[in-house]
Amino acid sequence: MIRSLAIPSEIDQRLVPNQLEKRIAADLGRIEAFQDHWDRPQIEQFVAADFRHLYQALSWIRETQMLLGNRFLEWGCGFAVVASIASQLGFDAIGIEAERELLREGARTVDLWRQPVELVHGNFLPHGAESLADDSTLPSLGHDERSAYDQIGLELDDFALIYAYPWPGEDDFHEAVFDRFAAPGAMLLLFCGPNDLRLWRKQP
Ligand SMILES: C[S@@+](CC[C@H](N)C(=O)[O-])C[C@H]1O[C@@H](n2cnc3c(N)ncnc32)[C@H](O)[C@@H]1O
Repeated sequence: MIRSLAIPSEIDQRLVPNQLEKRIAADLGRIEAFQDHWDRPQIEQFVAADFRHLYQALSWIRETQMLLGNRFLEWGCGFAVVASIASQLGFDAIGIEAERELLREGARTVDLWRQPVELVHGNFLPHGAESLADDSTLPSLGHDERSAYDQIGLELDDFALIYAYPWPGEDDFHEAVFDRFAAPGAMLLLFCGPNDLRLWRKQP
């Protein structure tokens, strides 16, 4: 069972360091340029996540929430900006991405940020997770890539905090996977659109 936690609206008053603002602006420019030539169907609806707000939320979580440990996982990390932010905040961050082209961009981000983020090419869904979906056409299903967990020797329940930006209509599925496979006490942060950050904790 998972419980929703309110994120105070005042977190948007948190100071974002100047250097981080500049890094985010540069990454948004790279994402925009990339989108102009990427031809996958989902990308037509894609709006980049609000990385400033995510920095504010992650710094608030780190300061105020009980965390099971220091491991942070970005499901479908794309450009790995959020994993880089988490790493800058002191988390041991891992990003999993199925698309090689995106993972290359993620590696570039990690280099530019000079953060020790581990990037893994693979499927972020744990074995057996696909059966939790009530719609077989969800974009995160059916990836042929190897399980990322087998490659890193960790399971989903080894992570204290998981972040995802689900494609539209996938948020319930992400929550169900977290509920089934995360450790009791772990947290899930979802970006579901501008000003729509959702935070969950799996009940012990
Ligand atoms: C909406 S984008 C979010 C990108 C990034 N997390 C962010 O917040 O900016 C979703 C990402 O998840 C990746 N993805 C979707 N399903 C996946 C799966 N089963 N395993 C690994 N990556 C997946 C997609 O390729 C895409 O990069």
